[in-house]
Amino acid sequence: MTMQLDSSGKLRHLITLEGLDKPLLERLIDRAEGYLTTPGDCPPNGSPFAGRSVANLFFEPSTRTRSSFELAAKRLGLHVLNLDVRTSSRTKGESILDTIYTLEAMACDVFVLRDSEPGLPDFIMRNVEPWVSVLSAGEADRNHPTQGLLDMLTMRRHKRDFSQLSVSIVGDILHSRVAHSAAHALKTLGVGQLRLIAPESLMPGTGEFLGAERHTRLETGIAGADVIMTLRIQKERMNSASIPDSESYFQQYGLTPERLALAKPDAIVMHPGPMNRGTEIASEVADGPQSVIREQVTNGVATRMAVMMTVLETLHGN
Ligand code: NCD
Repeated sequence: MTMQLDSSGKLRHLITLEGLDKPLLERLIDRAEGYLTTPGDCPPNGSPFAGRSVANLFFEPSTRTRSSFELAAKRLGLHVLNLDVRTSSRTKGESILDTIYTLEAMACDVFVLRDSEPGLPDFIMRNVEPWVSVLSAGEADRNHPTQGLLDMLTMRRHKRDFSQLSVSIVGDILHSRVAHSAAHALKTLGVGQLRLIAPESLMPGTGEFLGAERHTRLETGIAGADVIMTLRIQKERMNSASIPDSESYFQQYGLTPERLALAKPDAIVMHPGPMNRGTEIASEVADGPQSVIREQVTNGVATRMAVMMTVLETLHGN
């Protein structure tokens, strides 16, 4: 996705991690790490881009990603506009592009976009003004690049060397943009082993996740793993007949303390949220000592700061 880069190879938009090279991913992760503050300390307040504007356009539900982008922008001194989806003119039939043009006319510099339509971030990216940046906050079941980066930061802070890691992703991989972005980044960073664990009905086709091992049994899929990434069942992307029953799903694929004991003793447990306790993960695991789920949330704000600073520097220098 070279369109994301400007003519000198700098990141201008972020809509997918696929195709971004290792040095760029590492720079973004390093930069995000630099924005982490000691819990309880006052986070940064301002940047050379203070006064510029970010518009959050979320046409799908979101708690953490939207708040995370908002706090990240505010910590850089940017103005944040949260478009109210229910009252936006899109419900009156205005095209998303017209909404973008309207906000560009008000001098919004960065658009953060979440939508269920595949291809939308790419389309918007190709149609914005040369001084504008588009950041995907979740594209259908395809891409969630800032989540992928925050997940890499979280893994790296615990495990350092990706080439030595065995990462198991468990659950609704077929519909998960989180899994897709994680796999793009893990591949580029040279992960030792990637294992996908899902029932047949939620396993992606063999044309995707090339090089990953596939397991339908959780027990074999997590044996000896260093990282276990659990996922929510994306009911909103399925017809009701194909939604698995929560109890029987938990019986086969729920991450319980007993099953977690099959992974390495120092394995970490991740989940992008929102979690369905008792469906994909047991509460004891979600709140247990191996869980890094809240760290992921913390790392998310720093990651979004790093991404926003990087694209603003590309557009406006530093
Ligand atoms: C995920 C998403 O929206 O793709 N959540 C998130 O951004 N943290 C995962 C999900 O909704 O299950």
